[in-house]
Amino acid sequence: MKSDAYYSIFTFHVMNNIAHFLPSLDSVQAQCYPEFQGISMDTPTLNKRFHLRQLSSQDKLAMLRQDVKLGLIERPRSLPPKYFYDEIGSKLFDSICKTHDYYPTRTELALLQKHANEIVALVNSNTCVELGAGTSAKSEVLLSEISAHFNKSKFNYISIDVCEEVLVETAARLQNNFENLFIQSIVGEYVPSIQVLPNFDDPVLFMFIGSSIGNFTEQESIDLLSNVAKKMTFDDHFLIGMDRVKDKNVLEQAYDDREGVTAKFNLNVLTVLNKDLGANFNLDNFSHEAVYNEDEQQIEMYLISNSDQQVHIVDLNETLHFERGEKILTEISRKYSKASIHRLLGKSGLVEVKHYEPDNKYFSIVLAKRKKE
Ligand SMILES: C[S@@+](CC[C@H](N)C(=O)[O-])C[C@H]1O[C@@H](n2cnc3c(N)ncnc32)[C@H](O)[C@@H]1O
Repeated sequence: MKSDAYYSIFTFHVMNNIAHFLPSLDSVQAQCYPEFQGISMDTPTLNKRFHLRQLSSQDKLAMLRQDVKLGLIERPRSLPPKYFYDEIGSKLFDSICKTHDYYPTRTELALLQKHANEIVALVNSNTCVELGAGTSAKSEVLLSEISAHFNKSKFNYISIDVCEEVLVETAARLQNNFENLFIQSIVGEYVPSIQVLPNFDDPVLFMFIGSSIGNFTEQESIDLLSNVAKKMTFDDHFLIGMDRVKDKNVLEQAYDDREGVTAKFNLNVLTVLNKDLGANFNLDNFSHEAVYNEDEQQIEMYLISNSDQQVHIVDLNETLHFERGEKILTEISRKYSKASIHRLLGKSGLVEVKHYEPDNKYFSIVLAKRKKE
C-alpha cells in the first residue's frame, strides 16, 4: 500500500509533465471549448481539464486531394479508411459496434471488464495515451479502474483521433463521469500525434484497441507500432486489441451486418468526397461488399459500381469513369493468429507481457513492453 505522500509526488510529476505539454498546445491551436466554459459555472475546473490541439488542419484537405488522386484515379481503385470518420461516419461506427453481427466490440469489452483490475495494477500508470480513441466506450472501463486504483487522485487521458467532433463529445462525457480526469485531445493522425507527445517521467499506458491495427498492411503496422515503441520508456506499457482468424462466415457477417449499418458506413465515404471535394457520387449507384481473403487473412471492404457511370470531382477537375462491377477497396481488416501477433510485436520493437483471449479465441488483447535490445 503506498502512502498519500507517494501519490501526491507521483501526481505532481505527471501533472508537471502535462503542464509542459500544455503551453505548447496553447501556443499552437489549443482551445477550451465555449460549451465547457458554460458548464464550468457548476464545476469550476471543467474547462481547465480539457485541452484540444489541432494538428495540420490546413493539410487535411491537401492530403485528401492527394489520396484521392493516388487511390481513385489510379487503378486498382482504393481509399484509405481514415476518411470514413467524419462526424456521421463516427456515429455510424458507434452503431456498428452495437449490432449483433459485429462481435469484436462486445468481445473486447468483455475482456477488458474481466481483466481491467489486473492490467491497471500491473501497469501502475495514471497517464493513458489512446490512439484512435473514438467514443472511448471501451477505454472508459480502464479509466474507471485507474481512477479507483489511484484513490480518485488526478489522472490523465490523452486521446488521439482524426475526428474532432467525437473527441469533444467524448471529453464532455468523460469529464462528467470522472471529476479527477484531465484530458488532452489531439485531432490528428497516429504518427504525427505520437511525435508531438512530451516525454513523461512516470509510466504511461499506451492503448490501440478496437482492432484498428488491422487496417494497416504488415509493413505499415510495423512502422506504426515501432513509432509508439520508440516513444515508450522501459516502464511504459502498450495495450493492443487484435481480431483473430476465425470462420469465414462469422467474419463476413461481422463486416456486412444484417441491419445494414456497415453498408451505410462504407457508402458514407462517398458523401465525404461529395462534401469536401465537390464530387457528385450518387450513393444509390454503389453497393457495399465485404469478403474474407483467406490467403491474406484479411477482410476486404469494397464499394462496387452498380452500372457504367461517370463521377465528376470539381475540386480535382477530374472525371472518373466506372464500369459496372468495378471496385473501390475502402478498408482491409487483418486477422491475426497468436504466432502472427508475436511476429508483429517482435518486428516492432515490442515484447508481450500478457495475452488475454476469450474461450472462443475470437479476439486478443495484448499487453506489451518495449523490447530491450
Ligand atoms: C475502428 S474505430 C475504433 C474506435 C475505438 N478505439 C474502439 O475501440 O471502439 C477507429 C478510430 O480511429 C480513428 N482513426 C482512423 N484512422 C485514423 C488515423 N489515421 N489517425 C488517427 N485516428 C484515426 C477513427 O476516427 C475512429 O475513431
